[in-house]
Amino acid sequence: MLKINNLIVSINDKTILNNINFTFEKGKTYAIMGPNGSGKSTLAYSLMGHPAYQLSDTSTIELEGTNITEMEPHERAQEGMFLSFQSPLALSGVKVYQLLQLALSGKKDPLQIRNEAKAYAKELGISEDLLNRPLNEGASGGERKKMEVLQAAVLGKSLLIFDEVDTGVDVDALKSISKFLTKYKKDKTYIVITHYNRILHYLKPDQVLIMVEGKIVKVGGPELAKKIEDEGYETLT
Ligand SMILES: Nc1ncnc2c1ncn2[C@@H]1O[C@H](COP(=O)(O)OP(=O)(O)OP(=O)(O)O)[C@@H](O)[C@H]1O
Ligand SMILES: [Mg+2]
Repeated sequence: MLKINNLIVSINDKTILNNINFTFEKGKTYAIMGPNGSGKSTLAYSLMGHPAYQLSDTSTIELEGTNITEMEPHERAQEGMFLSFQSPLALSGVKVYQLLQLALSGKKDPLQIRNEAKAYAKELGISEDLLNRPLNEGASGGERKKMEVLQAAVLGKSLLIFDEVDTGVDVDALKSISKFLTKYKKDKTYIVITHYNRILHYLKPDQVLIMVEGKIVKVGGPELAKKIEDEGYETLT
């Protein structure tokens, strides 16, 4: 469903992603691991179309057969993509309901959005108070991660990229996030960027991709994540 060809990405003339080729299949779960600075977030942002990242002329990204390489982030979102940020920002003056209503205008009615958000918040252990505050204002790191998951669910996208959704969340929150993602998986494709095998125990990825220095250096099954946890990345490079 998501086909990446010859993806070469630079920022301020520094090459960060160095020829990524991979096809993510519909309905599967993928984990991406790799050392700090290996380009995982850059890959996520590039897939979503962040304007700061320059793609080479040869780079192509196809989503369900549509060439999205030149599309704006909001157009990619309309095509079904969602990116959950590694460091979700606060948005003062805008509540999550308003944000979701704006994103879904004409697609879901405001009452339905509100009801869904409330129900999902309960499942994720997000307090009513947090839901009614401007988005992420004064929210802790873990609370912000849960808010990202809530937005992903209400928006109902088909390709979801989670950049370190498990970093900074406590054990119980990790369980509720994992349970939630598993419960609402259906035909969705998940790309989960993580440093830890922990979340993968629950999410059971079909494939684990290892990135080092802007390249995918290894692809394997869940055992690869275990090996990384035990041995680190040194044996791979
Ligand atoms: N705006 C930028 N300007 C300059 N260099 C950048 C910029 N954004 C990213 N980089 C560099 O690109 C490299 C890859 O960064 P990226 O954030 O993709 O790594 P990562 O794999 O997500 O790391 P982490 O595990 O720490 O989140 C790093 O060396 C980083 O410093
Ligand atoms: Mg990152």
